[in-house]
Amino acid sequence: MREPVIAGNWKMYKTIGQAVKFAEDLKGAPLPGGCRVVICPPFTALSAVSGIIKNSRIGLGAQNMYHREEGAFTGEVSPLMLKDAGCGYVILGHSERRQYFGETDQGVNLKIMAALDHQLTPVVCVGETLEEREAGRTGEVVAGQVDGSLSGLGADLAEKLIIAYEPVWAIGTGRTASAFDAQQVNRLIRDLLADKFGGEAAQKVRILYGGSVKPDNTAELMGQPDIDGALVGGASLDVASFTAIIKEAVSCKQ
Ligand code: PGA
Repeated sequence: MREPVIAGNWKMYKTIGQAVKFAEDLKGAPLPGGCRVVICPPFTALSAVSGIIKNSRIGLGAQNMYHREEGAFTGEVSPLMLKDAGCGYVILGHSERRQYFGETDQGVNLKIMAALDHQLTPVVCVGETLEEREAGRTGEVVAGQVDGSLSGLGADLAEKLIIAYEPVWAIGTGRTASAFDAQQVNRLIRDLLADKFGGEAAQKVRILYGGSVKPDNTAELMGQPDIDGALVGGASLDVASFTAIIKEAVSCKQ
């Protein structure tokens, strides 16, 4: 049984003060067991949030990192620095990074290796654009991203991954993939993982769905056998909607 994961990707939202308030409120909220909850604030708030959620059931993640430990890489943040700030997770290859900052599968691959080397759990994002979906290329695009970003990985490390299928056209748009479509792609990803790393490892990988997840569409999505949780953007910025998603997810997976 894979423990579901609900991860909040805050993107470029919240000052340190706002992040601290959210973390205190979330820590004080009655969260159901049986689910891994992770929040991913901006870099500036990681350390402060870590101080609050330490010794709680809430995990901390960053939204990106560079693959080197240190060096003359102005503006970048390393895996060592994320560990130091209290992170256990890092989102890698988010479509906004691919779209606006030129990230490639090859670069994501280096980051995944570095994250795993430093005991950070990568949350690897893949997903097609609307154009690619309409051209019937969803499977091919997602397979290419999985293949490229996981190249050279062994089964022992691959099973630690979290993968998030996030169709680009569903992110921040209010349009969600149907539970059926999302399940099809998540299943495809699991089949690809089984080909690459063997069935046992593939069964252990948590494959999330992301893209306009809200409390009222969580149950339908989480009811699918290969959807092991959600990567939530907009609805993770508010404690009430984030906890409502967590509760929905837990009741579905029980
Ligand atoms: P959204 O973002 O929930 O606001 O669509 C999801 C994401 O980008 O991870």
